[in-house]
Amino acid sequence: MKRDITLSVNGESYSVNVEENRTLLSVLREELALTGTKEGCGAGECGACTVLFDGKAVNSCLVLAVEADGHEITTIEGLAKDGKLHPVQEAFIKHQGVQCGFCTPGMIMSAKALLDRNPNPTEEEIKEAIAGNLCRCTGYYPIIEAIKEVAQRGEHR
Ligand code: FES
Ligand code: FES
Repeated sequence: MKRDITLSVNGESYSVNVEENRTLLSVLREELALTGTKEGCGAGECGACTVLFDGKAVNSCLVLAVEADGHEITTIEGLAKDGKLHPVQEAFIKHQGVQCGFCTPGMIMSAKALLDRNPNPTEEEIKEAIAGNLCRCTGYYPIIEAIKEVAQRGEHR
């Protein structure tokens, strides 16, 4: 069965008519053309699909689009402002926390959720925050260093 829902994504309101069993991930990518959010496993294991749901990091492959009706969603497309990358994005580039890039949007959204709720995380807290995000390329340390630097500079917003 289909339902009319309203999604607020990156500050814009979208009215969509979706099957009740569609995931938020598939609606973001296929209906709203926000393809920055990636699909890896489709089963809650890899974190490639991480978005912010009312400010909290969630796996969008595990959320039904109808559950997001009326809630605030932020995707990687919502981070850069006025053509300028978000400080977390800049730090990932500087520290070479990006290689193939497939995990990067999800990893950055988890980092942003962490820094929004805890601007001065310890290394352990950083590791815990990205524990659900798998990366096949970087070895994780450049990513951890990038998040640490943004926290130290207090520039995460
Ligand atoms: S695609 Fe959602 S956790 Fe892997
Ligand atoms: S940069 Fe390739 S999976 Fe993380």
